[in-house]
Amino acid sequence: LASQAEKPKVYKGLEGIYVTETRLSYIDGLHSKLYYVGYPIEALAKNSTYEEVAFLLYFLRLPRKDELDLFKALMAEARELPEDVLNVVKKMVSLKAHPMDILRTAVSYLAAYDPEVGVNTPESNLRKSLRILSKAPSIIAAMYRFSRNLDYIPPRKDLSHVENFLYMLHDKRPTEFETKVMDTIFILHAEHGMNASAFASLVTISTLSDIYSAVVSGIATLKGPLHGGAAEAAYYQFKEIGSPDKVEEWVQKALASKRRIMGMGHRVYKSYDPRAKIMRELDGEIAKIYGGEPKLLYEIAIKLEEVALREFAEKGRMDIQPNIDYYTPIAYTALGIPPEYFTTIFTASRIVGWTAKAMEYLKDPRLIRPLDLYVGELDKEYVPIDKRG
Ligand code: ACO
Repeated sequence: LASQAEKPKVYKGLEGIYVTETRLSYIDGLHSKLYYVGYPIEALAKNSTYEEVAFLLYFLRLPRKDELDLFKALMAEARELPEDVLNVVKKMVSLKAHPMDILRTAVSYLAAYDPEVGVNTPESNLRKSLRILSKAPSIIAAMYRFSRNLDYIPPRKDLSHVENFLYMLHDKRPTEFETKVMDTIFILHAEHGMNASAFASLVTISTLSDIYSAVVSGIATLKGPLHGGAAEAAYYQFKEIGSPDKVEEWVQKALASKRRIMGMGHRVYKSYDPRAKIMRELDGEIAKIYGGEPKLLYEIAIKLEEVALREFAEKGRMDIQPNIDYYTPIAYTALGIPPEYFTTIFTASRIVGWTAKAMEYLKDPRLIRPLDLYVGELDKEYVPIDKRG
């Protein structure tokens, strides 16, 4: 055993450790900057669509018009779900499973219908990634419909990725504004460096497992409230506060009891998450247009941000600021999406990041196998069970 002096350093939470090189995204956490393949997130959120961003992440360049048309057509073609997968979704809904558990199971089940599941060539992995990416919204819409005793709405090929998703959820073609809001949410969640779920899916692909398994690992990891589940937690936090005039008292109590403000703080951003900034602006528009619950949630969120940041600043903690999960619940509510579905939408978008990363890693793979530092005793005597005290 290593002596105290030569004890290796343990990087708890792997903070500050680089595990691979990437061309997909770059986060400058000190200066509120995020880039996909070198493009600032603000420019993509303003001008692009989810399909174009997906193409960018898979091919590391923006598409020409004919390439984008073909890419969109391939995605639209792959939206259908096998009948058996719909039955699994229905069964899990009847068991009252959480939507993230249903999504994880349904993606895993889909693998059984893919004849290429064990083929790890770049072409096959791209085809499988596109299939999973295209089918995820159909799975989410199916569980949403079944959970409300409504019929499944089959996908349409003539609608964009997010337009079709909203159509399948609500059996109604969304407005231009609703489509823009959902496209923005999808673009902002598409990729984000070596976060916990990206790492989990990378570990899986590093064993030369398969793309479906890598996505299932990602979903399982994204589910947690410290990661993708924070938007749902932030929503319940706003509901618990109830109105902007209760914020001040709520924050004092929360911080005194060492409770975390959900949707604030980030391992990499030590400044304002640029995605949260974009969502906050969009939420302002949403609050004006929709009124009602989205407006109330927005007013609570704005007030909570003001009070919490003031309190954090007094403690010298200017590094704790809103992250993307803080401001998405308002937009989701306006789009008629219930809180238990928030993380599934994050997932549907992030599949592109996980699969693009997996394919990038497979160009020069190495098994990910870190160490743990043993701190227990050695050479202990084995005592027979009837002699143990
Ligand atoms: N509210 C109050 N205090 C906080 C918060 C918060 N939201 N976030 C961090 N802190 C404090 C911690 O209490 C801790 O204080 P201490 O050093 O006095 O004990 C310190 O900041 C560091 O916290 P860690 O959890 O060690 O920092 P880490 O880098 O692991 O935290 C995390 C990142 C998990 C996101 C954290 O900020 C958190 O729990 N936030 C709330 C949940 C959340 O919003 N998660 C979404 C992240 S974004 C995403 O996944 C899409």
